[in-house]
Amino acid sequence: MTAKTKFIYTCQKCGAQYPKWAGQCSDCGTWNSLVEDVVVKGNPRFSGYLTTADGVTLLSEVSLKNGQRLPTAISELDRVLGGGLVRGSVVLVGGDPGIGKSTLLLQALCNLGQNHKVLYITGEESLQQIAMRARRLELPQDQLVLFAETQVEKIITTAAQEKPEVIVIDSIQTMYTEVIQSAPGGVGQVRESAAQLVRYAKQAGVAMFIVGHVTKEGTLAGPRVLEHMVDCVLYFEGDSDSRYRVIRATKNRFGAVNELGVFAMTDRGLREITNPSSIFLSHYNAQVAGSSVMVTWEGSRPLLVEVQALVDESHLANPRRVTLGLDQNRLAMLLAVLHRHGSIPTYNQDVFVNVVGGVRVTETAADLALLLAVLSSMRNRPLEKNLVIFGEVGLAGEIRPVQSGQERLKAAAKHGFKKAIIPKANAPKKPFSDIEVVAVDNLIEALQAVR
Ligand code: TYD
Ligand code: MG
Repeated sequence: MTAKTKFIYTCQKCGAQYPKWAGQCSDCGTWNSLVEDVVVKGNPRFSGYLTTADGVTLLSEVSLKNGQRLPTAISELDRVLGGGLVRGSVVLVGGDPGIGKSTLLLQALCNLGQNHKVLYITGEESLQQIAMRARRLELPQDQLVLFAETQVEKIITTAAQEKPEVIVIDSIQTMYTEVIQSAPGGVGQVRESAAQLVRYAKQAGVAMFIVGHVTKEGTLAGPRVLEHMVDCVLYFEGDSDSRYRVIRATKNRFGAVNELGVFAMTDRGLREITNPSSIFLSHYNAQVAGSSVMVTWEGSRPLLVEVQALVDESHLANPRRVTLGLDQNRLAMLLAVLHRHGSIPTYNQDVFVNVVGGVRVTETAADLALLLAVLSSMRNRPLEKNLVIFGEVGLAGEIRPVQSGQERLKAAAKHGFKKAIIPKANAPKKPFSDIEVVAVDNLIEALQAVR
């Protein structure tokens, strides 16, 4: 050990660092989560994204020639990136193992390779495995440069010689840097390796995809600590059992956040779904109780999704409130509003709700559709055919307006819906020709509209 050797202790759950070991992380409260990292050669902490090293620059003189976007030729991926990959930007691609991260990036890189110099760094799969996959998917392979390596210093040296325009790092959990002497995959290693790669990407103006696995419980100690370092964070949503894959931009310095890209996993790799509403509406034709269709607004486009509710008599002291794809606290709140302002109690009922297709809805505009689905299940009476619903429900029982009301109505009409229950403040000034609009001001009016 040299005089410069230093120990730091990193919590594997939240990434907090301490100079001394302790039994419990005082940041997140987890026990036995601190792991020793040995830092050698001083501690070259990440020093920021300096691309112009020599002092200050006038805003108007900053050259934008590097700002142009590289299209990946996968339209749904370009969409979540905000219109293509920005040079010098770093994109974190997170998701469960086996959900399709490597497949998507291999497809994107083979396409990009047709017009740009690209480099695929693999720390997980062998070169043969990647070649086999590319051949099976019949991707253009002649321009893709592969490198099987896990040491960050070697990767940066090689990249500096090869001078690629786009790099994929698959995955950050397999990478390690000499600076820290702990095993790859730990929070300390992941953070320091990523910091070095990000610094290189910014200095060299290289666009970089970093793959990060996320564990099932959502303790994403690895990728989560990277979110603030990168420009764009894309997460794969939905479960790997379903055929569909949804990618959501949870952070994007160059585009709309919450933008969704929708894909289907086929035997020929990931295929884009350009009209995603069609897959999120169930194709079950008979009208069933407990189902409603809402128009959500994700990123920059409307999306029609079906929400299903099941309300059943409970034998528990604390009845169950289970949500899939929706916020559980929001459901509890809506049930309270239903009781207080609609005089409909659910304290002796279990309530289960599910968004069809494995997509996650984060918008409050889903409130009214969810509430009416719950009501429909409770009464065991289907809602009208071809009805769409959107609107936020306030604690006072009022129905609040949502953004882009007109566009939502248009999207619903385009998909053949004939009637819409929407907030009064979103009602169009002149009547819509193809869809009947029922504008409601409060919960009582909404309940009357579905009597
Ligand atoms: P992969 O991209 O290796 O996942 P990740 O890198 O996120 O861990 O995806 C592997 C899964 O995708 C695997 O379960 C098989 C499936 N798959 C297909 O169904 N069709 C295909 O053409 C390919 C390449 C993979
Ligand atoms: Mg992979």
